[in-house]
Amino acid sequence: MKTPTITLNSGFKMPLLGLGTWESPKGEVGAAVKYALLEAGYDHVDAAAIYENEQEVGAALTEVWAAGRKREDVFITSKLWNTHHHPDNVEAACRQTLADLQLEYLDLYLVHWALAFPLEHFPNSRTGKDGVVIREAIPLQDTWRAMEALVDKGLVRSIGVANYTTTLISDLLAYARIKPAMNQVELHPYLAQSELVRFCQAQGMAVTAYSPLGTPGTAEPDMPRLLDDPAIAAIAANHGKTPAQVLLRAAVQRQTVAIPKSVNPSRILENIQVFDFELSTKELQLIKSLDRHMRYCEPMNWWGLPYFD
Ligand code: A2P
Repeated sequence: MKTPTITLNSGFKMPLLGLGTWESPKGEVGAAVKYALLEAGYDHVDAAAIYENEQEVGAALTEVWAAGRKREDVFITSKLWNTHHHPDNVEAACRQTLADLQLEYLDLYLVHWALAFPLEHFPNSRTGKDGVVIREAIPLQDTWRAMEALVDKGLVRSIGVANYTTTLISDLLAYARIKPAMNQVELHPYLAQSELVRFCQAQGMAVTAYSPLGTPGTAEPDMPRLLDDPAIAAIAANHGKTPAQVLLRAAVQRQTVAIPKSVNPSRILENIQVFDFELSTKELQLIKSLDRHMRYCEPMNWWGLPYFD
């Protein structure tokens, strides 16, 4: 792998930067994956069943292998959707993702959210009369046991979680036979989550930053745009880099993995050109001071429940 890596607690290496595919439209995501892996120098793709584009990602990956890239040189993550938490459904979900991605194993498989929905509510969750998403009573421990079985069977190399809070991780660590390798969370200067990152890293878990650019494509129009922040722009000008590159550099400099999404070739390339400059301690401090505890991805808006409270 050419991108600098971190070593997960499972012993496997993971590139610090990868291509995100959330909201990457069908008809475009395949070309983005091929461009990233064959031309832009990426060796890491972040996928998920709920993105509903894994079949196209898989067809692109098969072309990537045919063009000469080796499977073992590329790191691929996917995620278990909330509808498949029941232990009877975890392996089937993983096998469906493997079939869609046309792979024999995943490098990393994550529990997407600490919330279980009924199986038949894939891919669209439903809301009850109380305005809250309809959930299924499945203990997270049961789901984790089934995730561990995927490692035992060789279907996935490492397992982890996404959107887990400190208390959820504490609980998980109390019963995990295979410790979670990763917590993937929203992370950027407006939502620095320094304590959560420190906690995860102290437990030997790595952290992935999703929405590292502040999801400019999907954010509510009245929310401040991270990419337009004047402090970020000033740092970017100082290095002859773009604001996006400063945001991604800041992520990898704190040893968090970043997975910027793009389907545009020039931005895909721009986003990986972050390993040829370094932010100073003063610049990192300035970036740290921008924290405003602001979530672009707020489950309250989708599911009517205060997930992070
Ligand atoms: P596009 O796919 O057209 O490039 P995030 O990873 O934080 O969710 O951000 C993804 C959004 O940011 C997408 O709308 C993507 O649009 C846009 N984007 C990706 N890279 C850049 C960049 N380097 N500069 C500006 N916008 C970008």
